[in-house]
Amino acid sequence: MQSKKSHLNKRPIKVMFVCLGNICRSPLAEAIFKKQIQQADLMDSVFCDSSGVSSYHVGSGPDKRSAANARNHGIEIVHKARQFTIQDFKEFDQIIAMDSSNFEHIVSMENKDQEFKLFRMREFDPKSNGKLDVPDPYFGGEGGFEEVFQILDRSLSNYLDYLIEEYHLK
Ligand code: 4NP
Repeated sequence: MQSKKSHLNKRPIKVMFVCLGNICRSPLAEAIFKKQIQQADLMDSVFCDSSGVSSYHVGSGPDKRSAANARNHGIEIVHKARQFTIQDFKEFDQIIAMDSSNFEHIVSMENKDQEFKLFRMREFDPKSNGKLDVPDPYFGGEGGFEEVFQILDRSLSNYLDYLIEEYHLK
């Protein structure tokens, strides 16, 4: 029996990760998720990208502290910051906001009937303890970047399991 959302033989599911500046959290989420997708042998089934709700850092590479932290975990972030647009809401199957502020910003941009595809990253965190935000590490110390890495790594792993089940990918 096939799931009602079976994606076998269809185009990849497109996932967009969104934060504020698109230089710390969401490009890291994109890079970690790409590695997890590769490890799960799902490169043909899942595509991901990232963007920010602000235009503060458009065209910039990842924050050096975020890039260094990722590198310590064997992950290279390859991304130039860009702003989330209304067109992205139409093009992507799932939009994953890093915190409640990013979430509310996106909701304010788009028609209510599209909200079904919008989530907060920590809805998928098995250790969220009720916290719904991936903390913004930009104004903090190095430790904040490691905390963000750990939150994203476990949340994304759980999110990939959700996608596999929801879209019958395996
Ligand atoms: P991000 O972090 O949203 O995770 O990329 C931030 C980056 C820049 C700023 C704030 C947060 N900023 O205010 O410039």
